[in-house]
Amino acid sequence: MPNLHTQDPFFPDAFVWGAATASAQIEGGWNQDGRGPSIWDVFCRQEGNVLNGDTTSQACDFYNRWHDDIALMSQMGLQAFRFSISWSRVFPDGTGEINQAGLDFYSQLVDALLANGIRPYVTLYHWDLPQALQLKGGWLNRDIADWFTRYTETLVQCLGDRVKDWITFNEPQIFLGFGYSDGTHAPGVSLPHEEVFQAAHHVNLAHGRATKKIREFVKDAKVGIAIATKIGIPADEHDPAHIEAARKATIHPEWKDGSDKHTTYLNNAWWPDPMIHGRYPEILEKHLPGFLDQFPASDMEEICQPLDFFGYNYYFGIVVEPADNEKGWQALPEQAGEPRTMIGWPVHPSGLYWASRFFYDAYQLPLYVFENGLSSMDWVDTEGNVKDHHRIDFLTRYLAQYSRAHEDNIPLAGYFHWSLMDNFEWAQGYRERFGLIHVDYQTLKRTPKESAIWYQKVIQSNGKHLFSPSIT
Ligand code: BGC
Repeated sequence: MPNLHTQDPFFPDAFVWGAATASAQIEGGWNQDGRGPSIWDVFCRQEGNVLNGDTTSQACDFYNRWHDDIALMSQMGLQAFRFSISWSRVFPDGTGEINQAGLDFYSQLVDALLANGIRPYVTLYHWDLPQALQLKGGWLNRDIADWFTRYTETLVQCLGDRVKDWITFNEPQIFLGFGYSDGTHAPGVSLPHEEVFQAAHHVNLAHGRATKKIREFVKDAKVGIAIATKIGIPADEHDPAHIEAARKATIHPEWKDGSDKHTTYLNNAWWPDPMIHGRYPEILEKHLPGFLDQFPASDMEEICQPLDFFGYNYYFGIVVEPADNEKGWQALPEQAGEPRTMIGWPVHPSGLYWASRFFYDAYQLPLYVFENGLSSMDWVDTEGNVKDHHRIDFLTRYLAQYSRAHEDNIPLAGYFHWSLMDNFEWAQGYRERFGLIHVDYQTLKRTPKESAIWYQKVIQSNGKHLFSPSIT
């Protein structure tokens, strides 16, 4: 265990331990019981978009196997389950007629979770826009803020008596950066900055209106977001100049053009700044002068609604040092032989500490890590077990760093592992395995990995097991 001087209690008493998923990645049943197609159903069927031509049609078949999966969650001692709603299961055309069977599915799922003592955390949008809305312009059409509000109202009316925790958007950075800028994710288009920022503004507006709608129907609701992260990690933790360089890399937006253009959207400030501070970063006006004049001035008030938490997803960061350039920092080159996960991402545990510190300083809201984990080389061995020791080691290191933030009195609300089970990893298809539960995609058999058994002990001991593995 890294010597981090962390002390018991390692996490707050009310800390929530969970696991996360997303509809398109686990549900399958893509045309069952009246569901309409989403942009990912269309995108994955177009040749060359997804590795091996893998599709969302069956995924983990969670739509038909959720009873068994809840039993596995319960065995694991999960306190919370984060899942997203498939908009096109509820509204096959995105607007118009409700598909009651789709709504019933989520209602029954919520009942079963609660009956098992598992708190539901609902993400309204995790990238699977109804194709019918894409045909009307998707996030480029300002009307989408109204479509999204109606969809939200339908959900809170149905689930709001039982679901109290609501996440409006998962990672706008990624679905716009990859989907609208470099075209590697659905809907697969590559637009100029100006149009991507129009779409971004509509996402922000939809977030604000949906937040208001949730509060109207669910008086004791907790509302927030789950953003993707580009986290600066100081090369030298003991040097305040390095820490400030890392803070800038995390919070200050950068502008990139050309083939690197999509990375502009990876910056953290484009979403929380308007949502929480009611303004866009100044750099927007510098690069797109007059851009905001096309929108009613009242948009900013609508976007900026009180939030209850700041949620972020963290996998890896960039190690930085101060530099004498416009940004004030530069990234350090990769170290020879640096550890990497199966998907090729570096292992940067301390980013979980620095992210918590920088986000809390900037936004002053209780924090959730809504996704963290790794893709690992997992298979079922001859004895029927999945010995994913890399996952246990990775999580031990990352969680120890998260605990450090607690020691600094940063309010940590919870941690959700990505993912509950192996699933459809977007353009990477089924190759990457991020789950605590192994899924055999031929038979759909589930096998809890050793990390699932380990995680149960971590949950039960509120994190003590990380530091003293003999404590369970
Ligand atoms: C997304 C997940 C994805 C995970 C691993 C996040 O960007 O929210 O849907 O599976 O990272 O790539």
